[in-house]
Amino acid sequence: MNNISGLILFMNIIEEQINNAAKLLVKSRFAVCLTGAGISAESGIPTFRGKNGLWRKFKVEDLATPEAFNRNPKLVWEWYRWRMKLIFNAKPNPAHYALVDLENMEILKCIVTQNVDGLHTIAGSKCIVELHGNIRRARCINCNYKLIFEKPPEKIPPKCPKCNSLLRPDVVWFGEPIPSEALNMAFKMFSKADLALVIGTSGIVYPAAYLPYLVKENNGVIIEININRSALTRIADIYLQGKAGEILPKIVNLIRRKNY
Ligand code: OAD
Ligand code: ZN
Repeated sequence: MNNISGLILFMNIIEEQINNAAKLLVKSRFAVCLTGAGISAESGIPTFRGKNGLWRKFKVEDLATPEAFNRNPKLVWEWYRWRMKLIFNAKPNPAHYALVDLENMEILKCIVTQNVDGLHTIAGSKCIVELHGNIRRARCINCNYKLIFEKPPEKIPPKCPKCNSLLRPDVVWFGEPIPSEALNMAFKMFSKADLALVIGTSGIVYPAAYLPYLVKENNGVIIEININRSALTRIADIYLQGKAGEILPKIVNLIRRKNY
């Protein structure tokens, strides 16, 4: 077999797998989705662990822990303001919109995301569980007042309009628990599910990475979309290697065009 026919064979296999994924989604009773930083990569937002990942350039313990914030709130806010600028300028990409389409088709029941960028909401998805909070929001470390930013704050660290204490980004830092309401909802959705789409996550941060196992334990189907293999690939029934923004719209188009 020469290189060209090898490539054609590979592409046919991928197309067939995409077709199978579409069929399984249509057949599913309660499909859910777990997303990670990879789904927003095509919107220009850096991931955490890839080649240009944030954790290659920055240290978690300097920027994303409660201790780091206590030590140097200004430094932590500088980093969050930089990320907020990227995120406020970003737009949802075809992957986010394809998930909106799947929800509107009443196939996808809920998205659980580890992302703090709010792009699922902007795209128009309705059932969204934000496990790690939202970078567009801050909360007071004293009175818990929540503030939603329309743009990145000019003065940092920002102060609470109610009690003048420090505001902190309303995100989950390492060493902190996931807010219980979000965690309970995520477990509820994944425990009910008979199919999970796992999109653009390295699958190594818990408890998020545990959710697909709940579906597997109930004999459900796992469909993964990722440019590279992840820690969850070994439990995937279908692994679609490629960009979420290219593969998900193909799945939606197949479902639209065909009567399975
Ligand atoms: P990671 O940066 O760990 O993983 C991103 C994944 O997306 C990798 O597996 C990539 O291969 C994949 N990827 C990149 N571009 C893609 C594309 N266009 N299409 C599909 N896949 C693509 O990000 P997360 O798994 O989200 O936590 O990281 C989990 C958590 O770790 C984050 O929520 C954050 C981080 O520290 C907190 O801040 C608490
Ligand atoms: Zn306050």
